[in-house]
Amino acid sequence: MKLNYGVIGTGMMGCEHIRNLKKIPDVSIVAIADPNEESRKWARKACEDKFKIRLYEDYKELLVQKDIDVIVIASPNFTHIEVMRELFKTDKHVLLEKPMCTNLPDGLEVLRKSKEHKGLVWIGLEYRFMSPIQSLINHIEKIGDIRMLSIREHRFPFLKKVGNWNRFNENTGGTLVEKCCHFFDLMNLIVPSKPVKVYASGGQDVNHLDEKYDGKTPDIIDNSFVIIDYQDGQRAMLDLCMFAEAGKYEQEIVLTGDQGKLETYIPGNELLLTNRKNSSLETILVKDDPRVKEVGFHHGASYIEHLELIDCIKNKKKPLVDCQKGLDSIILGLAAQESIQTGSPVFLENFLN
Ligand SMILES: NC(=O)c1ccc[n+]([C@@H]2O[C@H](COP(=O)([O-])OP(=O)(O)OC[C@H]3O[C@@H](n4cnc5c(N)ncnc54)[C@H](O)[C@@H]3O)[C@@H](O)[C@H]2O)c1
Repeated sequence: MKLNYGVIGTGMMGCEHIRNLKKIPDVSIVAIADPNEESRKWARKACEDKFKIRLYEDYKELLVQKDIDVIVIASPNFTHIEVMRELFKTDKHVLLEKPMCTNLPDGLEVLRKSKEHKGLVWIGLEYRFMSPIQSLINHIEKIGDIRMLSIREHRFPFLKKVGNWNRFNENTGGTLVEKCCHFFDLMNLIVPSKPVKVYASGGQDVNHLDEKYDGKTPDIIDNSFVIIDYQDGQRAMLDLCMFAEAGKYEQEIVLTGDQGKLETYIPGNELLLTNRKNSSLETILVKDDPRVKEVGFHHGASYIEHLELIDCIKNKKKPLVDCQKGLDSIILGLAAQESIQTGSPVFLENFLN
């Protein structure tokens, strides 16, 4: 069974998807849509020698094409809701890039409509497919009852995007939604309980303060500590700093149980396992996933994401990363941002009502 793809939004991430799909057998990209001429050229270049594509300015024209089975949506965050409303009028499968939406009402609408949609709806939270994360998950039973999870991301500032859409909260949903939904998704995946309370401190202290777009200075935060309490007493913490380029690792993940601890790093190929009883430290080599044929900007995770998505479509399985997971990941980001604004903890039960 061959699958025909259409890609909506062919900037940085859309082109990463194109390069992934080029290396996957029984897949063809037949069309792309992007209002920006330069981005359409990038797509044509990324497809050359492999796919002959039709180019559209308007994604609505692409969505009515009968020869397309799967849509990849990699347009800016604020456009996700309008594109999904049109997508739901079709029965096509879709990979919707993270964050699913920029606010709670839109997220709830996409979740509700996804339940009636004929095609498969998959959210692009691919960090879970990175080898160090997979390796950590595979060793979880060695550390006893999970008590604490700490994720640190220290990295470079947000890159420039087409039209500078990522400089303003109203376009992105805010930094903790836009980029940190990845880490909240990992917390939801790893901690075996429900989040109940979120408290956070953060601000825009260093980055983009000297930039102006249409006379406006960007308003996105560049550093934060977020703490999440879970129903069964576990705690998770995100330590984000976006003026910390050139470090050895971009992400450091530490998972502590009552019997031991697991630590891993991205990019990296080591998992450290400590055992309290023996006072032992073991270094486990993290092997690259041999299925990866295109590494991209995400260490091969977005390539694996496509393989898993195709497997779900072909074998009529439920999506591994569905809209509920997409929504849960943005809820924590939105709650953390509210906590920063109010200076108070946010109880999710109240927040969701
Ligand atoms: N999963 C990941 O790790 C990851 C990484 C980067 C970006 N992303 C997500 O991918 C999406 C795109 O981000 P990017 O970094 O490629 O941004 P980008 O600015 O490089 O590309 C976005 C493209 O979308 C186009 N566009 C704007 N409005 C459109 C519309 N209505 N229809 C079709 N195309 C439209 C723009 O012209 C541009 O070419 C965002 O949602 C972002 O959060 C995900």
